[in-house]
Amino acid sequence: MSEQLLPIIFKDDHLQILDQRQLPNKIVYNKRKTIEEVFHAIKDMELRGAPLIGITAAYGMYLSVLEFKGDSKALLNQLKDNGDYLVKARPTAVNLAWAIKRMIATAKRNHEKEPEEIKKELLSEAVLINKEDVEICKSIGEKLLTLLKKGNGLLTHCNAGALATYQYGTATAPMYLGHERGWKFKIFTDETRPYNQGARLTAFELSEAGMDVTLICDNMAGVVMSQGKVDAVIVGCDRVASNGDTANKIGTMTLSVLAKEFGIPFYIAAPTPTIDMETPSGKEIPIEERPHEEITTFKGERVAPENISVYNPAFDVSQAENITAIVTEKGIVYPPYKENLAKLMKG
Ligand code: MRU
Repeated sequence: MSEQLLPIIFKDDHLQILDQRQLPNKIVYNKRKTIEEVFHAIKDMELRGAPLIGITAAYGMYLSVLEFKGDSKALLNQLKDNGDYLVKARPTAVNLAWAIKRMIATAKRNHEKEPEEIKKELLSEAVLINKEDVEICKSIGEKLLTLLKKGNGLLTHCNAGALATYQYGTATAPMYLGHERGWKFKIFTDETRPYNQGARLTAFELSEAGMDVTLICDNMAGVVMSQGKVDAVIVGCDRVASNGDTANKIGTMTLSVLAKEFGIPFYIAAPTPTIDMETPSGKEIPIEERPHEEITTFKGERVAPENISVYNPAFDVSQAENITAIVTEKGIVYPPYKENLAKLMKG
């Protein structure tokens, strides 16, 4: 993974953020420093993917108080205000709120220290969240490999790849690890309308890594499944409810239903920070709606009538009953999810 393109690079007093909107055509890093810049980087899709949003938010929280002058109590209040603002950048991926809470908890734990010491603790916590993500992804990859065989056909959706995390990705982790070990998977990636994360990002990163990857339109998934080309569907997640219902990129739910129809295992690659035990089911997961232009235009050109009504939910919920297993860094969880996720998260 050494020559891999990193989605963010932390540089002491700012972040260099790879502008994923310009991939695969251009590799551009933008300097982001203020909380407003980090908010917009997340909201406007400069970076995306649940784990990466969490890591970036952690660094963003640190940067937001780096130049703060005031006592420790005032610093904590400022951090909380910044968290209240940042958490509104995107609603579905729970990693955003999770990382913000963890940063505020760090400041609270250290509230008796001097402000400069608290800032150091915040930086250590952000770096730790970043490091943990790499280990989480690797561990998910190893666990998923135990469910796969050499030469398997794999289908994925959106980008739950290295560009959505820090390295390896979640759904793509077994693909990277398998590739290193000569497992020769045949990977299909949906283009993932309307934002094309599959075409622009997953097809890009997997082919750059030298894997056998084939791009299909979202509406071709049923055909490749019916032709026996898919042995497993592996997708990421933005929020797993405590009953196992899972929100991921729009189109994932359709794949879960198709996979069931064709008797193909449907796996969720789920870091535990994406499991939200406080959300009881998919019904309570907030689903982001994105601008209509994502559907009515293509590369800036209008492709639909003016004034047409548009509905553009960015995520959907796969029902727990259609999920074969939820694969976390701590272990593989099978139904019944309510009981088994509770056990995993307590352990
Ligand atoms: O809108 P996006 O690109 O942030 O959506 C990303 C996804 O749906 C991913 O599958 C999910 O965040 C998991 S990333 C490891």
